[in-house]
Amino acid sequence: MARPAALVLHGPNLNLLGTREPGVYGHRSLADVDRLIAAHGRLRGVRVVSRQSNVEGELVNWLHGAEREGFLGVVMNPGAFTHYSIALRDAVAAIRLPVVEVHLSNVHAREEFRRTSVIAPVARGQIAGFGPQSYVLGLDALLAVPDDRLSRPARAPRARRTRRPR
Ligand code: DQA
Repeated sequence: MARPAALVLHGPNLNLLGTREPGVYGHRSLADVDRLIAAHGRLRGVRVVSRQSNVEGELVNWLHGAEREGFLGVVMNPGAFTHYSIALRDAVAAIRLPVVEVHLSNVHAREEFRRTSVIAPVARGQIAGFGPQSYVLGLDALLAVPDDRLSRPARAPRARRTRRPR
């Protein structure tokens, strides 16, 4: 049987990683980041397919096609689209596959406008601030999603009846 596969989507400007604002995003290129995610995927027994686009519609189309392409879920860094793309949000909400939102930087510790994510409410969750490791954590989070059902807290044990003092 083919190894399960996860789709990693990188949004706009992430193709410039390594040279783009290295003080914020580090010195590693997108190819380096993709190698790191793929290596982690091998450890976890999943194939990782990474794609990057500066075009909103292309990201939307990849999200729409992800289930048909056989992916188990998506790890996505929507870049600046995070903060305003309703089209991307609607695509995440429209598909059945789980989507984990990731960011290299801690968007909550930066400019005010980066604190808003229109994606987060429809994503399974968000991981931000760990540099390239955000993607690794995002992949682990994605792989934990099917286990969700198993790890729901068990029903609280019935309270022991205490005898009322007479
Ligand atoms: C980013 C954060 C966004 O605010 C920014 O527009 C990006 C990168 C991150 O990975 O930290 O392009 O998504």
